[in-house]
Amino acid sequence: MNILHIDASILGAQSITRDLSAAIVQQLQATHPDARVVYRDVVQQEIRHLTAAIAGGFRPSGVSTFDAATQQEHQLSELLLQEFMASDVIVVGTPMYNFSVPTQLKAWLDRLAQAGRTFQYTERGPVGLAGGKRVIVASARGGFYAEGPLAHMDFQEGYLRAFFGFLGIDDVQFVRAEGASKAAEIRQAGIAKAKSAIASL
Ligand SMILES: Cc1cc2nc3c(=O)[nH]c(=O)nc-3n(C[C@H](O)[C@H](O)[C@H](O)COP(=O)(O)O)c2cc1C
Repeated sequence: MNILHIDASILGAQSITRDLSAAIVQQLQATHPDARVVYRDVVQQEIRHLTAAIAGGFRPSGVSTFDAATQQEHQLSELLLQEFMASDVIVVGTPMYNFSVPTQLKAWLDRLAQAGRTFQYTERGPVGLAGGKRVIVASARGGFYAEGPLAHMDFQEGYLRAFFGFLGIDDVQFVRAEGASKAAEIRQAGIAKAKSAIASL
């Protein structure tokens, strides 16, 4: 089994999602001792936002001559795609930032949506080509969105489900630590709830 482990929190040792994503990988390794893990920290190894030249490596963008730096970006796009396609399980540690995902995680996702590689257009509409994988997302958020008045402002979970679904991945599970910006006991209760969800993954 190949595990792709992604972290996207800008907070290092203080990060809840870094802790949770590591716990998920550990849990998977306990049941699959032969699992191979590829780790990618999209904050420490920041992925550039798309430009027309960078996107031109995998989709028509009006740019067709590429300098050496852009060619390196195209190689990175290919590496990210291959890491993703080679994985059986993708574990993503992502905070909620401004109701969605960190821009660093979006930059990674933007390199993966490639027509003819991870999805294709057909007469029946777009079809995902990355099916059969499992995605486990560890999310932390300062407030509460799973239920209550802010539920409609969670653009993270729906977005990630839709994105991976577009690539053909329907098995997307979320482990949430909510209330991370509240009082210490509320924060700790959110983390404990997430840890207990991980134990029964
Ligand atoms: C830039 C930034 C934006 C944030 N936006 C939100 C938000 O929209 N909603 C929310 O509930 N919490 C928000 N938070 C709080 C984080 O989601 C929370 O601190 C979480 O624990 C971050 O994950 P981490 O501990 O893995 O870094 C934000 C935090 C930062 C630093």
